[in-house]
Amino acid sequence: MNFVMDAHIALVGLPGSGKSTIGRYLAKRWSVPFVDVDVAIEEHIGCTIREFFAKEGEPKFRDVEQEVLARLLSNPQKMVVATGGGAVLRPENRQQLMAYAQVVYLSASPHEIAKRLQRDTQRPLLQVDNPFQRLLDLHAIRDPFYKEVADFVVAGGGLSAAQVAQRVA
Ligand code: ADP
Ligand code: S3P
Repeated sequence: MNFVMDAHIALVGLPGSGKSTIGRYLAKRWSVPFVDVDVAIEEHIGCTIREFFAKEGEPKFRDVEQEVLARLLSNPQKMVVATGGGAVLRPENRQQLMAYAQVVYLSASPHEIAKRLQRDTQRPLLQVDNPFQRLLDLHAIRDPFYKEVADFVVAGGGLSAAQVAQRVA
């Protein structure tokens, strides 16, 4: 389906909720560019996010994230944007998302996400003894922020990524 997008489509949700995977499907379906904010950040900092967290700490990462997100959202070329799971923590980012994008919250349970990310070692916030508990904590803190910025909430429980993308579309 080809149509003219008059705003960016931004995907928000916990790490592992499927923002990058589903964002790629949607961009292909709508023939618009796809941008993964995490990838844009890594291009900007010249190392992986994991390395940057270890070297510089989370507050500096959040500064870079805010700068990169604002730059991407100011692009007049409309695109599908997969945000990082913590982008909604800063009020400035929430304001930018609400002003410049149609926002879709990919809501997935911590239980389902923990299963998906069992073998993933690239997400610094989940490199802890009990990643499931960490996901529960992240969910408790962030779910209200995801809901605050969201124009749509899409639940993907038990669906494949392609089915979730279809539901979002
Ligand atoms: P995010 O960008 O939100 O961190 P990803 O798109 O990287 O999430 O997805 C994390 C992992 O979960 C990937 O291995 C991806 O293939 C898988 N995944 C994403 N969406 C689904 C889904 N609906 N069902 C099953 N696995 C999924
Ligand atoms: C983060 C999520 C990551 C990445 C960084 C911080 C978070 O993105 O931005 O590791 O705070 O939840 P994903 O949601 O794509 O894993």
